[in-house]
Amino acid sequence: MHEKGVIYNNLSLGTITIGPHGQPMLHDFISATIAGGFATSIYQGILNPEFVAPERTERVDGGASPISDYYAFGVFLYWLLTGKLPFEADNLSQLIALHVAKPPIPPVAVDPTIPKGLSQIVEKLLEKEKSARYQSIEGILFDLEHHDDPGFQLASRDMDRKFRVSDKIYGREREIGLLKAALGGLQDGSGRLVTIAGYSGVGKSTLVAEFQKTLPPDACRLISGKFQQYKKDIPYFGIVEAFDRLFDMLLLSDQRVLDDFREAFANGIGDQGLILTSIFPKLALIVGEQAPVDKLVGEEAENRFNYVFLKLIRIVATRKRPLVLF
Ligand SMILES: Nc1ncnc2c1ncn2[C@@H]1O[C@H](COP(=O)(O)OP(=O)(O)OP(=O)(O)O)[C@@H](O)[C@H]1O
Ligand SMILES: [Mg+2]
Repeated sequence: MHEKGVIYNNLSLGTITIGPHGQPMLHDFISATIAGGFATSIYQGILNPEFVAPERTERVDGGASPISDYYAFGVFLYWLLTGKLPFEADNLSQLIALHVAKPPIPPVAVDPTIPKGLSQIVEKLLEKEKSARYQSIEGILFDLEHHDDPGFQLASRDMDRKFRVSDKIYGREREIGLLKAALGGLQDGSGRLVTIAGYSGVGKSTLVAEFQKTLPPDACRLISGKFQQYKKDIPYFGIVEAFDRLFDMLLLSDQRVLDDFREAFANGIGDQGLILTSIFPKLALIVGEQAPVDKLVGEEAENRFNYVFLKLIRIVATRKRPLVLF
């Protein structure tokens, strides 16, 4: 499959079955895509978040490649060996944060009877950085067959046949420190503005993504949007893009968090909800259709929007969990 450039994207306990003669079979190609080509999947979401490689989440740049399937295979082997999944959480955003940032407990630490070599193979498959994982199926197979050999060396036959640019990030410790300090400064309830400047491609988005990886899952809600050169005619384009992410996160969080938000929205925004849902259609999925509002034009309309928008920010940004808008 990988040789033909197809990424499976869907490896999980539910998509492998054992046929009548003992042969394993993969099925359900609903989210398969062509590597480096157009997204051809009819399903764009994440079907099995327990198996999702960091680069397949929106938190990390890079996108899926066959190596993302190796990560899912690592989760599968982890389960075969230990009877447990490497990461479990109550809600999706937390689970994704664990995949992105938390190193798994090595299988031998879960069960000391597991062969050390096998445990190392699984750890290598579960590396966060694509470039630190195996780069070829041949490398994985060789290690699985030889992990018991004396003097076994991990990934000794692992060779990448394609030239790839590593996604490792170099330097930027100082800049990440500055961002962390600014985030810490929010605890007094004030706001902060940090500017990150530089030519296109200098690494601004990469810096912010790297910063987020160093944070515990509940440290803040970080959302980002980009004002695109050719979308200047759409009002608030970058803001809408960023807040769509926020509403996605809310939709994926616990029922309790959702109920709290709905209540705070009803109390804080009252009958002005339509002003927000007409700019952020996704919000309507959370709070439902809103009643009509008085028609205003020009500066009055803008002032009213700013006023109601600030109220929305006050609901979602708390001292314990600030809102970071990039
Ligand atoms: N510190 C770094 N180490 C290694 N690679 C980096 C680093 N910073 C950026 N890159 C690489 O440079 C490329 C461009 O970075 P990025 O997309 O973050 O730029 P940007 O400043 O956000 O650009 P734009 O203004 O167009 O949004 C990415 O492929 C990224 O992986
Ligand atoms: Mg960018």
